[in-house]
Amino acid sequence: MTHLDFFKKFKRLTPPEPSPSILGFFFVSVFFILCFFYLDFRIVTRGFRSLGYPNSVTWFGLNQSVGEYPLPGFLEEDGGDCDVFDGNWIYDISYPLYRSEDCLFLDEGFRCSENGRPDNFYTKWRWQPRNCNLPRFDPKNMLEKLRNRRLVFVGDSIGRNQWESLLCMLSPAVPNKTSIFEVNGSPITKHSGFLVFKFGDFNCTIEYYRAPFLVPQGRAPAGAPEKVKSTLRVDRLDWSSSQWKGADVLVFNAGHWWNFEKTIRGGCYFQEGEEVKMEMSVESAFQRSIKTLVEWIDNEVDLNKTKVFFRTYAPVHFSGGDWKTGGSCHRETLPEFGSLPVSSQTWVHLKIVIDVLSECSDKSQEKKVDLLNITYLTSQRKDGHLSLYYSGLGPAPLHRQDCSHWCLPGVPDSWNELLYALFLKWEYNRTQNSMKAAQAPV
Ligand SMILES: *[C@@H]1O[C@H](CO)[C@@H](O)[C@H](O)[C@H]1NC(C)=O
Ligand SMILES: *[C@@H]1O[C@H](CO)[C@@H](O)[C@H](O)[C@H]1NC(C)=O
Ligand SMILES: *[C@@H]1O[C@H](CO)[C@@H](O)[C@H](O)[C@H]1NC(C)=O
Ligand SMILES: *[C@@H]1O[C@H](CO)[C@@H](O)[C@H](O)[C@H]1NC(C)=O
Ligand SMILES: *[C@@H]1O[C@H](CO)[C@@H](O)[C@H](O)[C@H]1NC(C)=O
Ligand SMILES: *[C@@H]1O[C@H](CO)[C@@H](O)[C@H](O)[C@H]1NC(C)=O
Repeated sequence: MTHLDFFKKFKRLTPPEPSPSILGFFFVSVFFILCFFYLDFRIVTRGFRSLGYPNSVTWFGLNQSVGEYPLPGFLEEDGGDCDVFDGNWIYDISYPLYRSEDCLFLDEGFRCSENGRPDNFYTKWRWQPRNCNLPRFDPKNMLEKLRNRRLVFVGDSIGRNQWESLLCMLSPAVPNKTSIFEVNGSPITKHSGFLVFKFGDFNCTIEYYRAPFLVPQGRAPAGAPEKVKSTLRVDRLDWSSSQWKGADVLVFNAGHWWNFEKTIRGGCYFQEGEEVKMEMSVESAFQRSIKTLVEWIDNEVDLNKTKVFFRTYAPVHFSGGDWKTGGSCHRETLPEFGSLPVSSQTWVHLKIVIDVLSECSDKSQEKKVDLLNITYLTSQRKDGHLSLYYSGLGPAPLHRQDCSHWCLPGVPDSWNELLYALFLKWEYNRTQNSMKAAQAPV
């Protein structure tokens, strides 16, 4: 083929008029622009698509009520064995469930938007299980179910985060806010050992006990090696346990203090009986403590009366360092929908708890402790942390970020919606069972 042939051929292929090519260019551009919109849109609605109900793809300006998928309700008979922890985060304009300005029971430290956080997407995600719908959180109903009862959180400051979230979620059901009060008149400050809020109209209390290890920390026994500054008694439960004992719902958590930094590095070793176990690793000490918790539940808790939950480890999201080396999360405004960039420590903590609990519930028929298995779903929420907005004085310096605790309203609200669902299920089951027992012939 000569150059001329080629040129002729080319000429035949070239459109005679220039206008269609401009038109083509125009369409291609429009196509690309639409693609960008579509991709952007898809980030937010991926949850819907993976559920396989394309007709429910709605976004800004459109009504997006909960429970519109043809899925069974978790509390219905056929929603019974749905794994509520397997699912997706869904953008829902009807969220959040409350505004921090309206909640009197919230540490300044968790009030991100009041502390200057500019974005609010992080308040608008709802957890949607894959195979069933959760009941919409109804504070009045929960308070009715808790009438004359005690709900107790025990654990570290992330447990406190969740406890304050629940106070804020429940209080809209009570018009007279002065009927909600701390029984000892203690203010919500960061360092008190325990706080008991009473909802007077319902004679119910929502309590928090600070016990970051769940087991007690104390002075080293006489004769211990010099480097032992303090010990954790892994074979008994925290001193405050006598106060939790009669609770109707117990929600434990632990993990954020169970690391080398907060124990052995500071001279805190582990003790069983009178013996300091110099060789015991942090992991085996944590494991031993969870065993101690299960033994305590066996001996001290009436499982006919009390529902026990363990909330699993809530991942942290520091990137480019940790809390004291300038790690950050302040640029995160969307959840992570894909792979999960969380530390191996997260899975170590989760595995220890799951292993100990499943081992123990093998022995008896009934499950003693229900997991609030939120580690996986929380790992996707790198956008929900306090980051720079933990102080009423305004944004913190960039190198002092908090990527462990959570803005409220925010992610802990979802943990409490799951708690609500599991609690209602248990409660319903219990009344059914006792009705059956009452009807049984004697
Ligand atoms: C959205 O839908 C729900 C139930 O389908 C309805 O009760 C509510 O009034 C609707 N809201 C708006 C703003 O259309
Ligand atoms: C209030 O609740 C407590 C348990 O939390 C119970 O012991 C007490 O009897 C209740 N008081 C009334 C008046 O029902
Ligand atoms: C609100 O509750 C407080 C404490 O229970 C009570 O003293 C007060 O009378 C209540 N106010 C109203 C308007 O009901
Ligand atoms: C719990 O209830 C079951 C059945 O109702 C009964 O057999 C059992 O003795 C009860 N346990 C306790 C500790 O009261
Ligand atoms: C908890 O969740 C993790 C991750 O989603 C899952 O692998 C594990 O099986 C769950 N454990 C239980 C006991 O539900
Ligand atoms: C409901 O009660 C039955 C019978 O006591 C028990 O086998 C089942 O595990 C209970 N389910 C829940 C979710 O508590």
